[in-house]
Amino acid sequence: MTQDELKTLVGQAALHYVTPNSIVGVGTGSTVDKFIDALAASGLPIAGAVSSSVRSTERMQALGIKILEAAEVESLEVYIDGADEIDHAGHMVKGGGAALTREKIVADLAKRFVCIADESKLVQTLGKFPLPVEVIPMAAAQIARRFAQRFGADAGLRAGCVTDNGNQILDVRGLAIADPAAFEAEVNQWPGVVTVGVFARNKAAVCLLGTAAGVRTLEF
Ligand code: A5P
Repeated sequence: MTQDELKTLVGQAALHYVTPNSIVGVGTGSTVDKFIDALAASGLPIAGAVSSSVRSTERMQALGIKILEAAEVESLEVYIDGADEIDHAGHMVKGGGAALTREKIVADLAKRFVCIADESKLVQTLGKFPLPVEVIPMAAAQIARRFAQRFGADAGLRAGCVTDNGNQILDVRGLAIADPAAFEAEVNQWPGVVTVGVFARNKAAVCLLGTAAGVRTLEF
């Protein structure tokens, strides 16, 4: 199966985690696009969706899915999103699509994070994928220096990228994140960091992994 077919498979499988007539949290990315398409095609009745990006909002609206603001919702049963990396404990690296801040906000509203990914995303240790960090522009150089000093890592601005929140993304190369929760807590405290793309506090409860043998369900 191609990577695209694996994404379609897990996008479809995620429908099983959607309670009829509930409000669904929806992430961002090419795998989530498959979920959105499957949701629209399924005819499954939902009360609406809280979206994590302009991209997902536009796709859902075009397919007739009602969008609710995060501020209108107190909690969600489930948040469905992809990942750039996921480890064997459900910690993730996210933000390849620059939507990490809103993704973390919507994930935090949800009781359960269901990650949908093809098997290339499963790793032993997070950090091979360049870690996205959303930063306030005036602090970008300062934060890049701190990554070099503290972790010996190389942080570079993502060219031409402005987030939905008007900020910039640093992509950080050369990390091996042994303790994702401690790493997330530390980097979150650096002045000018809006969101670090490690999802440890908001880790996955379930991962639907697309493999050549079908969908593998990992529970954490
Ligand atoms: C978006 O900012 C990311 O967090 C995505 O969830 C992640 O990049 C996965 O995207 P794909 O499904 O396109 O691989």
